[in-house]
Amino acid sequence: MIRSVLFVCLGNICRSPTAEGVFRHRAHAAGLTHLHIDSAGTANWHEGKAPDPRTVRAAARRGYDLSPLRARQVQVSDFEQFDLVLAMDRQNLRDLRSLVKAPRHDEQLQLMLDFVDGWRDKDVPDPYYGGAEGFEQVLDLIEAASDGLIRHLQSGRP
Ligand code: 4NP
Repeated sequence: MIRSVLFVCLGNICRSPTAEGVFRHRAHAAGLTHLHIDSAGTANWHEGKAPDPRTVRAAARRGYDLSPLRARQVQVSDFEQFDLVLAMDRQNLRDLRSLVKAPRHDEQLQLMLDFVDGWRDKDVPDPYYGGAEGFEQVLDLIEAASDGLIRHLQSGRP
């Protein structure tokens, strides 16, 4: 049974805090109120910082408050703390796999978009160096994946 989910991207200031806030909001609305939810970055560059202001603004327009979140770097010990670790893109997935080499952790680790039909093995694109539409696309993809993940958790399948 899955009781905890960690979302991981590169900086932990755009995609994974969006996933944390969107999934928390939608899971709660769906009655999944006892999950432990967090996010982290594979890099430590933004440790302690709030999410990117563009991320906070785009999420706020859809009703998600990301302002209390603070960035942190992913730790090997996260694989003991979290049942499911979801990478935003394939590079994040490779970085996580090289961080935790124990095969027993393989099944905890998946791509976020594996929970969207037709998006298996695809990336949530990094919006950091792009325009405003990138932040909207991140939200679109993460809302779809959050709903797919909620359906998966409600199904009781492993
Ligand atoms: P994130 O986006 O991985 O979605 O948080 C990025 C944030 C910062 C940087 C790159 C990506 N950066 O190069 O600082």
